[in-house]
Amino acid sequence: MATHTIHKNVLENARPYEPEKGTVRRVTAGAIKRRKGRTVFPIVTAYDAPFGQFAEQAGIDVILVGDSVGNVVLGYDETTPVTIEDMVHHAKAVVLGTSRAHIMVDMPFGSYQVSDEDATRNAIRLVKDGGACSVKMEGGTFVADRIRAIYSAGIPVVGHIGVMPQTASLGPGYKMRKNRERLVADARAIEAAGAYAIVLEVIDHEVARELTEMLTIPTIGIGSGPHCDSQVLVLHDVLGMYPDSPSFVKRYASIGTDATAALRAFAEDVKEKRFPNSPA
Ligand code: KIV
Repeated sequence: MATHTIHKNVLENARPYEPEKGTVRRVTAGAIKRRKGRTVFPIVTAYDAPFGQFAEQAGIDVILVGDSVGNVVLGYDETTPVTIEDMVHHAKAVVLGTSRAHIMVDMPFGSYQVSDEDATRNAIRLVKDGGACSVKMEGGTFVADRIRAIYSAGIPVVGHIGVMPQTASLGPGYKMRKNRERLVADARAIEAAGAYAIVLEVIDHEVARELTEMLTIPTIGIGSGPHCDSQVLVLHDVLGMYPDSPSFVKRYASIGTDATAALRAFAEDVKEKRFPNSPA
């Protein structure tokens, strides 16, 4: 049944860039920006068609194809090795599994550091080949020019400051960011460069409140307290797929334990010849 539903969606989404008259449009970056001050909205990550579909059916209409795919799906210890091909591959799957949600896609490490031209080319790739509605990149004032370049090409961009996992293990680590002046300067630069929203990852909650009040674009918090305009979590943390999650996470299921128990029951049934049942 589930497979059938997903196939139906795949067919409905086979040509996302040639919508027929009357087709429901995806939520736009502009619509997300206009939520500022009106409504607090949830965002969750997804990396494949079925979970994109589950998120959308749950009423979540902004989905992030995060480069956290490296940690939670591809088996890496960090996001740094994730490639633009990985992001295109997973973005495409999420786009095919959804019909109305806004699909925000991470620019992976190495896809925007070299030059404005390279960054713009890679952002275009995420849109053309991956079906991204917008792209997200980590960094403060030093990526403002990249944001401007991509935005000038017509692609909506989301900034990301605070803990930046792509480079965390190269020095700064994962501890909470509290340098108010630095965070304010970075947030202002990102907004001025044309970003339509900004992720605040593990920053001091009072600074997050100040940035949320100061900026005209929505702040998307993760581990940054309750004052942000939106809250994002990694799918595998929400669903409890792994034994450990960051302390700020709230788990809403224990899918990892349930999946292991189901597979153990299947294995036992096969070994004990209880499955398949012999025909009557
Ligand atoms: O890659 C990701 O999942 C993210 C979120 C943690 C915001 O960037």
